[in-house]
Amino acid sequence: MSFDILKKLEWRYATKKFDATKKVTPKKITILKEAFNLTATSYGLQPLKLVVISNPKIIKDLVPLSYNQEQVGNASHIFVICIENSIDAKFIKKYFDLVNKTRNTSRDILKSYEDYLIDDFSKKTDEEITIWAAKQAYLTMGNLLTVCAVEEIDACPIEGFQPDQYDSYLNLTAKGLQSVLVMAVGHRSVDDAFSELKKVRRGVDEIVIDLE
Ligand SMILES: Cc1cc2nc3c(=O)[nH]c(=O)nc-3n(C[C@H](O)[C@H](O)[C@H](O)COP(=O)(O)O)c2cc1C
Repeated sequence: MSFDILKKLEWRYATKKFDATKKVTPKKITILKEAFNLTATSYGLQPLKLVVISNPKIIKDLVPLSYNQEQVGNASHIFVICIENSIDAKFIKKYFDLVNKTRNTSRDILKSYEDYLIDDFSKKTDEEITIWAAKQAYLTMGNLLTVCAVEEIDACPIEGFQPDQYDSYLNLTAKGLQSVLVMAVGHRSVDDAFSELKKVRRGVDEIVIDLE
């Protein structure tokens, strides 16, 4: 059983060429959206949004904003993982409203933790909050890559893009967001040579320290 997941993780690779004729089904896209939402985040605050692009014209337009990476242009969907620009008292209060509504936990019980978080975040600089939020974005991508592997969806994680240009082209700034990561999603092309390459990894004995 545990080896099945390792087989799936071996199967996945950073896809360099998708088969543009093969679209990922809406059902699978829904699974990925749910997995994004189910990802653990620090304090549970989810300072994130996921933009899912399926429009072929928009996808093509993103290629030059992604250093002309071919896999962006032939992907079925482009996922843009964004962070919220404003993680302030209002944002934190909204989270506790949701806890209250979802679990019926009274505001009195939540108050000390809520006050602590509002105080803690008020002491952080904008840069510190951005770095913190970006870490949560990376976690979601790790989770999505694993879910893609399990669901046999191909994907390429992408840092090689111009966030400022994505933000203005996709109108993200107006939505209070900034792009942090891109994930191209689709099904591998039969002639993507990278699918046949052996994984380059340091080796478990080298990368893991067992302290017994
Ligand atoms: C955060 C992150 C950013 C990456 N950015 C790119 C990218 O811009 N273009 C690309 O082709 N691959 C990108 N990769 C893919 C890595 O090069 C790839 O995952 C790594 O070489 C290991 O290979 P594998 O995923 O095929 O096992 C990125 C991977 C990660 C985790």
